[in-house]
Amino acid sequence: MQILDGRKTSASIKDELKAKVAELKKEGKKVPHLAAVLVGEDGGSITYVNAKVKACDYVGYDSTLIRFPDSISEEELLSKVDELNNDKSIDGFIVQLPLPKHIDERKVTLAIDPAKDVDGFHPENIGRMSLGLPSFLPATPNGIMELLKRHNIQTEGKHCVIIGRSSIVGTPLSILMSRNDKHANATVTLCHSRTKNLEEICRDADILVAAIGKPYFVKENMVKDGAVVIDVGTSRLEDSSKKSGYKLAGDVAFDEVAEKCSFITPVPGGVGPMTIASLLLNTYEANKRFQSA
Ligand code: GUN
Repeated sequence: MQILDGRKTSASIKDELKAKVAELKKEGKKVPHLAAVLVGEDGGSITYVNAKVKACDYVGYDSTLIRFPDSISEEELLSKVDELNNDKSIDGFIVQLPLPKHIDERKVTLAIDPAKDVDGFHPENIGRMSLGLPSFLPATPNGIMELLKRHNIQTEGKHCVIIGRSSIVGTPLSILMSRNDKHANATVTLCHSRTKNLEEICRDADILVAAIGKPYFVKENMVKDGAVVIDVGTSRLEDSSKKSGYKLAGDVAFDEVAEKCSFITPVPGGVGPMTIASLLLNTYEANKRFQSA
């Protein structure tokens, strides 16, 4: 069994981007600028957004963090989105999800200019991705594709089973995995809460992706010998032995599953860092497009 080390792979991507940014600076060109909007005090969201800003600093991007209290109205948030859409100094921006219940996430996602939507969540980008046209690819699914590619893991003709059909991970990953591309071309089964015979389907997977947010859901009896297992889960479980008071739990029972598979992603240190690397890649592209427009 081999660990798919997302931290290491993400570090390589960041170093590649850092070198490109240094080149831009040398040529006197504008460096990429990412803005992140964070609403409220959700611990997970704060951690993720801080990690995104830190990654920007590392590669040499400009970054702007915009924070609002939970009480912000939908109208105020939409007005900030509009401002960012029109701010020429910003190449791309994200609005961290989830948003408070009184704000319609779809409305906010739709309001983002697709040309600045470096999360790849806007229907225009999802539609372009589905048709195989150039687009911003959603960060987590694209991070998974990149992790597989950079470890020379064959996907062509393989059976990829994805558990979870969220619009951020499962559904877009099913599209990327089945695209006509030598680093995709998988036969995909997208499973969800109404799927029958889930264990049996999972046992047939050459590549098994767990993205449901249920700690330790995937057990040893759901995994085929030699399978590649990708764990997207990042649930927070109370743990008084940790300074933070919690530990991160994946969707896969790592210890029992690891023995059976050929490759597996750890939590933390697997898919999470790859999500950030993808966001940086998209932001680099956004800057390139604006500069050549
Ligand atoms: N919440 C969980 N993952 C993501 C992500 O990739 N982007 C945004 N904007 N919010 C998230």
